[in-house]
Amino acid sequence: MASLDIVQTRSQFPSLKSGFIFGDNAGGSQIAQEVIDRLNDYLINTNAQLGAEYSVSAESTRRVMKDAPTEAAKLFNARSPDEIVFAASSTLNLDNLARSLERKINDDAEIIVTGEHEANVGPWKKLANRIQVGIKYWRATPTKDSNPYSISLKVEDVLPLITAQTRIVAFTACSNILGSIIPVKEYVKAIRARAAEVGASQLEISVDCVAYAPHRKIDVQDWDVDYAVLSYYKVYGPHISAMYVRQSALRNSVSPLVHHFIKADDISYKLQPGGPGYETVYATTGVNQYLLSLTPANDLNASFAAIAAHEQTLVQPLIAFLTHPAQWERGVRLVGDDTVGLNRAPTISFVVVGPHAMQSKDVVKVFDAEGKAGIRWGHFYAYTLIDDLSPKLDVNDGVVRISLVHYNTVEDVQYITDTLQKVLQL
Ligand SMILES: Cc1ncc(COP(=O)(O)O)c(C=O)c1O
Repeated sequence: MASLDIVQTRSQFPSLKSGFIFGDNAGGSQIAQEVIDRLNDYLINTNAQLGAEYSVSAESTRRVMKDAPTEAAKLFNARSPDEIVFAASSTLNLDNLARSLERKINDDAEIIVTGEHEANVGPWKKLANRIQVGIKYWRATPTKDSNPYSISLKVEDVLPLITAQTRIVAFTACSNILGSIIPVKEYVKAIRARAAEVGASQLEISVDCVAYAPHRKIDVQDWDVDYAVLSYYKVYGPHISAMYVRQSALRNSVSPLVHHFIKADDISYKLQPGGPGYETVYATTGVNQYLLSLTPANDLNASFAAIAAHEQTLVQPLIAFLTHPAQWERGVRLVGDDTVGLNRAPTISFVVVGPHAMQSKDVVKVFDAEGKAGIRWGHFYAYTLIDDLSPKLDVNDGVVRISLVHYNTVEDVQYITDTLQKVLQL
């Protein structure tokens, strides 16, 4: 397997030249030069309204309606670009999806959600409230006796919730707090087997891949899911989201959100009311180009394998520092899994509890005062997950989150652990 050339990788991000350590990548990543070039190129050369016959419009239409969904389909491994929907954000895409399903949900239906980021939770709760159907929670539970905050989402906890009425199971492929990579294929297989057992013939699965997409290759066909979303601004691209909607769901489950005179029966365009920003849609095509440049293999799977391998070199020292007996004694508790391995993204959260407890915001304040690295505190919109933790935390103060990606270096981690060492000194 080809490993990542970190110098070459970093040289593709103009913003990294400042030397600032970006440690809030689960909030938003930096943007690759290839993407910036395409954004400029669109605005300079093809900034015309789509759908007309003149040459500039024809080129613009090709870029937005064909090139962008074709590339997004590769990122999801969708069967067809007609299964891709663009919207300003994943939150909006999922809210649109929930609205479009409204007419095809029975009165006695049940929806299962997690406590993860509200984007794949809130739209389903609002839908359940609008049409008065049941909602059930699939909660992350402790993995270790020693640390009550070491929680994870386990498939055995969702199976008893599934009944003949279950219509939607919505979960997150990687938590933006816990950092654990969910084995989506395995979970979906178990959910579908249970659905078959209890006769949940209409069950569909919606997966939030926003925190997963920067770290691992999505494969909606292999996973056998119906809906999936990602946010390009966390995958080295611009502020726009892409959603995958399985062809059969487009045909049978979702009703159009577009104007009545627009004919888009079986294609994703039916979920795209109004035009998303054309220049950002086209710029997303630079993301695959950037990812493919990471190894000589010219293959997205190889790129993500190289990303995952490099990221382990970041996860390892950070988790080793945070779980060291001296830190445990100090009151540092990881919020999430403390194992180092390929099931772990470099999104690492912790709290400081006990007799010398510190507020998360006070830990981060020291980093901000030094001005060399950007990390963050809060609930990061996974409000329910933080609110459910026991012993209880102040949900608004939440956790300290350090979220790295493949362009971060072991030197970045060294600076972060050195600074934490100073912060945590009694
Ligand atoms: C796991 C996860 N899902 C969804 C979202 C929301 O994405 P968007 O801002 O595109 O709505 C985020 C954003 O932080 C996230 O981390």
